Amino acid sequence: MLPQEVIRRKRDGNALSTDEVKEFISGLTNGSVSEGQVAAFAMAVFFKGMSADEAVGLTLAMRDSGTVLKWDLPGPIVDKHSTGGIGDNVSLMLAPMLAACGCFVPMISGRGLGHTGGTLDKLDSIQGYNTAPDNELFTKVVRDVGCAIIGQTADLAPADKRLYGIRDVTATVESVSLITASILSKKLSAGLQYLVMDVKCGSGAFMQRREDAETLAYSLVSVANGAGLKTTALITDMDEPLANCAGNALEVLHAARFLKNELTHSRAHEVTLRLGIELLLSTGIAGMVADAREKLEASLSSGRAAAIFGDMVVALGGPTNFMQKPEKHMATPAIVKPVYADQRGNIHAIATRDLGLAVIELGGGRRRADDKINHAVGLSNLLGKNANADHHTPLAMIHAADEASFVRAEKIVKSAYIIGEVSKELPPILETLTA
Ligand code: URA
Repeated sequence: MLPQEVIRRKRDGNALSTDEVKEFISGLTNGSVSEGQVAAFAMAVFFKGMSADEAVGLTLAMRDSGTVLKWDLPGPIVDKHSTGGIGDNVSLMLAPMLAACGCFVPMISGRGLGHTGGTLDKLDSIQGYNTAPDNELFTKVVRDVGCAIIGQTADLAPADKRLYGIRDVTATVESVSLITASILSKKLSAGLQYLVMDVKCGSGAFMQRREDAETLAYSLVSVANGAGLKTTALITDMDEPLANCAGNALEVLHAARFLKNELTHSRAHEVTLRLGIELLLSTGIAGMVADAREKLEASLSSGRAAAIFGDMVVALGGPTNFMQKPEKHMATPAIVKPVYADQRGNIHAIATRDLGLAVIELGGGRRRADDKINHAVGLSNLLGKNANADHHTPLAMIHAADEASFVRAEKIVKSAYIIGEVSKELPPILETLTA
């Protein structure tokens, strides 16, 4: 079948058959379909959308474009995926907690995208940690330790790699069907049995409006379940940073301190627990919410989750005493200085996306795909909504490599914080979607 005929049928709003989708994705993977044809296909899907059946077909065809991992382990194979936000280091905390509860977590994570941070960049701040092991080491760490967080390898869902690169430069990233197939093809290629999605919504999310987040969450849940992967989704608030810091090493430090029970309860704690509860219920490891919560809390209080994180770091090439002294094994910034609001008062709202842009301005994220990033820089001690800013309480501490980038970030942070009346507190979890 000719690729241009598949594109024409989609352009005209027809539903594609599974065979048409399969053949197009096979041509996309082996290079016989040209870049122009892939771009035209993506644009046709962007405008005409896909039915649930087509999206399942696309997801499975993309999964089958490379290796699909198979596991034979004495526990369920699970993962969590977030659509991205600011101060969202839940993966680093949740993976070892789930492993401590008897799950196996082969987590394939991504680099920062747009204004959001990426788990892979965060892990790259740990000296010696190998985020690109071969499949043999990856599977060994999952089996021996219980979890391994790494980057996408070349042989997992290669169709997504090519399609994503072309979408990125043809204004076709924001298609619900294409985002769904992109995320889920990678998850399915890791051989998962259970997945929980954290779909972010608000000023620091890709889906700022609640109805868009709901559409994406619904698509992810229905396509994943249609493809045989038991999946639920939470829609969570991203109208303020999840943790009180943003930046690679700072977020690893936050996760390590959380796992060591050194942080008081927070929104990050609640979101992490609720995502874990979803998975413990799906797998049957817990029968009720209270039981699931207790198991997850025990993974923290017993020190088991912290020990597993430390073991994962060692197994992937990092320092043996990382959990004892995490800050010793990560780069430190040249400058750490506070930024104060011009006017004292209540934090009414936060332009959360701008805080992510401030991290990029400091060098902690990329402007171009091939940029090197500075893992040490970022923001800490971020005030949340309805906190009080005054001349003694800074909006944040800025960790910068030099004075010039400090000044640029200071300007962005100041304007991101809107001082005004007390605003309505949103719960961190806005909605739960099950199949
Ligand atoms: N993350 C992905 O992996 N793919 C998308 O298309 C968007 C976000």
